[in-house]
Amino acid sequence: MKEMTLHTSFHLYAPDELEEADRKLVDAARQAALTAYAPYSHFQVGAAVQLCNGLIVTGSNQENAAYPSGLCAERVALFYAGAQYPGLIAETLAIAAYKDGMFLSDPITPCGACRQVMLETMQRSQHPLRVLLCGNDRIYDIQSAADLLPFAFGMEALGN
Ligand code: THU
Repeated sequence: MKEMTLHTSFHLYAPDELEEADRKLVDAARQAALTAYAPYSHFQVGAAVQLCNGLIVTGSNQENAAYPSGLCAERVALFYAGAQYPGLIAETLAIAAYKDGMFLSDPITPCGACRQVMLETMQRSQHPLRVLLCGNDRIYDIQSAADLLPFAFGMEALGN
């Protein structure tokens, strides 16, 4: 028996340490959170995708009385980007959350289903998807969405 170790590293930024382009993307994620339809959880999430041509597309969580029919902000944004700009690489995804009238000071981390979709987005474009988890007080900069989903199931497993 061998013990194996997985290692994840990420960068931690204070908001004033962000570069201009990242600051813009974080702002777009925050603005998107304000468009959430979240009458059940009252938890508003915004996501902003930076495409390789500089375009930013955004999404927010969209809930439904039949709870599983709703969708997270990240998947709304990534699927929108895939539908509107199928040939453009998604380079960075910023995520921010708003609750009780304020943006959360700590970053939120995406659910497993969204991580799975991030991974497929990367596999399609063969380009790492950088993820910015944006709290008001601190930002986690993850170089590749693959770091968020160790032992992922991916298209290669299907052998097609
Ligand atoms: N949610 C997101 O949109 N993204 C996340 O990363 C976590 C959770 C949404 C789903 C649901 O509408 C609400 O937040 C509460 O879980």
